[in-house]
Amino acid sequence: MSADRKDDHVRLVAEQRAGGPRSNGFDDVGFVHHALAGIDADRVDLGVEVAGARWALPFYLNAMTGGSTATGLINRDLAIAARETGLAIASGSVSAALDDPALAPTFRVIRDENPDGFVFANVGVERSPDDARRAVALLEADALQVHLNAVQETVMPEGSRAFSSWPRSLEAIVEAAEVPVVVKEVGFGLSPRTLSRLRDLGVAYADVSGSGGTDFARVENARRAAGEYAFLAGWGQSTVECLLDAPADAPVLLASGGVRTPLDVVRALALGARAVGVSGAFLQVVLDDGAEGLVALVRSWTAQARALLALLGAASPGDLADTDLVVRGATAEYGRLRGIDLGALSRRSETPESRSSRGR
Ligand code: FNR
Repeated sequence: MSADRKDDHVRLVAEQRAGGPRSNGFDDVGFVHHALAGIDADRVDLGVEVAGARWALPFYLNAMTGGSTATGLINRDLAIAARETGLAIASGSVSAALDDPALAPTFRVIRDENPDGFVFANVGVERSPDDARRAVALLEADALQVHLNAVQETVMPEGSRAFSSWPRSLEAIVEAAEVPVVVKEVGFGLSPRTLSRLRDLGVAYADVSGSGGTDFARVENARRAAGEYAFLAGWGQSTVECLLDAPADAPVLLASGGVRTPLDVVRALALGARAVGVSGAFLQVVLDDGAEGLVALVRSWTAQARALLALLGAASPGDLADTDLVVRGATAEYGRLRGIDLGALSRRSETPESRSSRGR
């Protein structure tokens, strides 16, 4: 049953992506272009600090799969691509292997193919601290992702509807963890209230994983004979909305959900993400062109991200905090309703002198 579900997810994500390129909240975010502000691309260092490690690249392969023969082969290709490019990689939820050790190799392949890379193990929030420890041990993982997926569980035919124990369970996992913990959504976003709660529970990293890309309400609904949860498609906050709305004292933010291009990566970094996760877009390339295809794509994203930072005058991802971002459309409406100062965001590069010379 669980192995079938893992195969269903991959098939349905690919089918639903084939509907064509989707616009999402990232399209509402533009940079003000300053024609004389550029720097040399060879001065750009894309490296970022995440979970006590230095990553060469500010984007990573986010949680997806494992738990069946076919998804084990996908994990093998993803891990080879991670090894060849230095990309950090997350496993899919290891729960299946915790319940049935025969499935362990379909996850363990991520470490076997990528012995020196940065690897996250992934578990659901309902698992015990001991299960989380076993998941980390299985992958010799550098860090642990804990996913919050209430919407997915709600639509999933075999899903749980009992969520009240989650905060306590999360607290126990965080307390017992011997590696850094990232709490993530699975494509519905983390609100300011959730981010503050995570901080109170001692969580150091949060991946907002918003809407705009893979939509597990649609995926799980397609697994129902009657498709009676179609109305939940599109639920949640977009990744851009989450980043705009995040409180100043949130955990260190990672971003994922709907990232399609290196420009989306740079937009998310400029909106305050420390690093940016990609699932659906990279899965598609591995399904179409194998590990080799993903290696080529990651190399081209790396060169393009470097070029974009040079264009924006940013020697490192941290320098993007001073870029001027213009937010339009539905995202701007969300921002206005939520009281976010979008005007200030569009003038972040201004100094007090340039501001006064413009009469502000
Ligand atoms: C996922 N995702 C996911 N997340 C998680 O924490 N545990 C998991 O087991 C899975 N499984 C999974 C399977 C497949 C096939 C996909 C495409 C995705 C969710 C993923 O990590 C991410 O949060 C969302 O997919 C949003 O990012 P994209 O796909 O829009 O880049």
